[in-house]
Amino acid sequence: MCIFIDCLLSPFIIWPTAIGLAGYFIRQYMQGGQFTEETDETGKVVIVTGANAGIGKETILELARRGATVYMACRDKSRAEEARKEIIKVTGNQKIYFLHLDLSSLASVRKFVADFKAEQNQLHILINNAGTFSGTRRLTKDGFEMQLGVNHLGHFLLTILLLDLLKKSSPSRIVNVSSIAHTIGKINVDDLNSEKSYDGGAAYYQSKLAIVMFTRELAKRLAGTGVTVNSLHPGVVDTEILANYNVAQNRLIRYNVIKPILWPFLKTPKSGAQTTIYAAIDPGLNDVTGQYFSDCKPKEVAKLAKDEKVIQFVWQESEKWTGAPKVI
Ligand SMILES: NC(=O)c1ccc[n+]([C@@H]2O[C@H](COP(=O)([O-])OP(=O)(O)OC[C@H]3O[C@@H](n4cnc5c(N)ncnc54)[C@H](OP(=O)(O)O)[C@@H]3O)[C@@H](O)[C@H]2O)c1
Repeated sequence: MCIFIDCLLSPFIIWPTAIGLAGYFIRQYMQGGQFTEETDETGKVVIVTGANAGIGKETILELARRGATVYMACRDKSRAEEARKEIIKVTGNQKIYFLHLDLSSLASVRKFVADFKAEQNQLHILINNAGTFSGTRRLTKDGFEMQLGVNHLGHFLLTILLLDLLKKSSPSRIVNVSSIAHTIGKINVDDLNSEKSYDGGAAYYQSKLAIVMFTRELAKRLAGTGVTVNSLHPGVVDTEILANYNVAQNRLIRYNVIKPILWPFLKTPKSGAQTTIYAAIDPGLNDVTGQYFSDCKPKEVAKLAKDEKVIQFVWQESEKWTGAPKVI
């Protein structure tokens, strides 16, 4: 008996157990706000970009479970089809569709909108979720820095081209997935396309700040139309978004060093999808627009995100670069 107690009190057992338990409880705490209200989304038509993986996939799983008709706007057909079949199998909802969308190509955005409008004459929820992180400077097909191009400009054009349907289907909602990273972002007015110098982190933060600014300005321009638009931070979530980040590019390091160390502090993709689902369907948000959420609650945006001069600069450049029609 004494030997057994001695064994239990051994530092080789106590410390790993204590660290394991601490990690478990921290992780539970870090999952953050959950959207628990039961709603029926039958009859609602939803588009989610980047729906084949991570937060986007968990978002459509929940919307499918609630009966919505879901369009997965994804760039890779085989990955999207795999996810689509899984969602149909798990939820029993057959109204889950794939339409090709590569946000790094304005031509693809325009084609997606044409294809969608050929199939549907209503749209109740547009979730601009897709995102990319790039440690090295890459360009979209139209010559835009990749993160600005995919995270902001592609979604800017997509949203504006779908406004007619959103207005026709109102009350309707646009949900823009930004990040807390917007708070450390700056809009580089002298070098928006990062041509003179490049910092992957700064370009990502800039793209996420541009999304918050776009959200706030669009909300003003859509006042009285019945279309709301909000942005959000999903949390720090265990997905593949950082696969292109410096040292994390190495799979061995990513899975054996970075992920185990960060594990207690990361949200699961399911928890990461909660604020998106909340912004998309919470009945209490019917008239809420131009806001930013985190953990299923409103949150203040960075001071810079309210700078009217910079907001107008971002809007005008986005309009010019994408050739999007004017929103008055
Ligand atoms: N994870 C976090 O900690 C975190 C924190 C703050 C904000 N966010 C934001 O949350 C959103 C979802 O990210 P995630 O964490 O779920 O990452 P993820 O697992 O990497 O998912 C990103 C999705 O975006 C898609 N995508 C990337 N480039 C695209 C393009 N050119 N055209 C169309 N789709 C494209 C990806 O498609 P493929 O599978 O084909 O690559 C994937 O479906 C992003 O906007 C991200 O910035 C994430």
